[in-house]
Amino acid sequence: MATSRDYGLGEFDFPRGWFMIGAASEATRIPAAIRYFGKDLVLYRGESGTPYVVDAYCPHMGAHLARNSTSYIVRDGEHVEGESIRCPFHGWRFGTDGACNHIPYSDFIPKAAKLQTYPVVERAGILWLWHDPEGLAPDVDLANFGGHYGEPGWVEWKIDYMGDLNSHGIEIVDNMADFGHFVPIHGATDWQYFANDFKEGHLHQYYSAGHRTLTANPEDMLVLDTWYEGPGFLQSEMAGTFDSFIMIANTPVEDGVTRSWHALMVKVHDGSRETTAEDRALALAYQEGSRLAFAQDVEIWANKRACLNPLAIPADGPYGKVRTWYRQFYNPRDKAPEFQARVNGLHVTLDKRPGHKAA
Ligand code: FES
Ligand SMILES: [Fe+2]
Repeated sequence: MATSRDYGLGEFDFPRGWFMIGAASEATRIPAAIRYFGKDLVLYRGESGTPYVVDAYCPHMGAHLARNSTSYIVRDGEHVEGESIRCPFHGWRFGTDGACNHIPYSDFIPKAAKLQTYPVVERAGILWLWHDPEGLAPDVDLANFGGHYGEPGWVEWKIDYMGDLNSHGIEIVDNMADFGHFVPIHGATDWQYFANDFKEGHLHQYYSAGHRTLTANPEDMLVLDTWYEGPGFLQSEMAGTFDSFIMIANTPVEDGVTRSWHALMVKVHDGSRETTAEDRALALAYQEGSRLAFAQDVEIWANKRACLNPLAIPADGPYGKVRTWYRQFYNPRDKAPEFQARVNGLHVTLDKRPGHKAA
């Protein structure tokens, strides 16, 4: 497995951004051990319903805050109190700012009794964590997924876990520029247009062609606007057999190991009637088609060696630009504009649209 340093991404091993850490259902009143960004963490839900993520190890004597089933703190239901979490070992309790707010056998609470906490937002049925190697508050809003989650006429997605891949996130984001893989991997036909637009922290891919995995009839066109708002997840507005919206998340577990998920929402009617069980079944079947298309990429990533420098040819898409764009998230925030300035703008790889000049 190759690390961020091997790829020469920048000063940080893990990037800045919003990252999926699981389905909303994974946050409960029972604290759970999770691991991302090379760190042991604990996820729990407070009494108000708000999810929290804190470092796993207690500053007192290092007990794991979640990996316990026998302490009387856990057995007596004192593990989560209000919004606070209590350590199973000596019962120190930590609030939402991470500071210890109760020690059962002492009025004195040391200042250093503090857990690191991470901003977490629950949206579209998913838990999102803000990771920042500089420890700063989010400077970008979490995406709103086209506003389609819960929108009348749209069937909400389920979460497809795609595996923990021995591939760095950059290999997945490379896909944005990967014109040459669409025919062999996805069965693209009748190419009309393929382009990438680099806009500061956003990266778009515009695709217009047939798609053997995703269209019902070989002659149907698929028109996709696919983008990243930061390094952690892809969104795609797709016009095909149905209007739909894809989300693909990739979160570092270790440096060079990436957890991947896929989800898709489908517009099944115009919102003027109730959604039926039949609609839902149809949407799930469409999601499964999209999952299979993504699994075609995943099979490559799960088995490839690291590609530190693509042997790129002129007819490939702009891998180099994508990698430069990606580096902004592995360097201090105030350096991001330097990377953006080097890539900002539209890069057209193919344009066969009638009335348009070939690029
Ligand atoms: S180790 Fe957590 S309270 Fe002592
Ligand atoms: Fe792909």
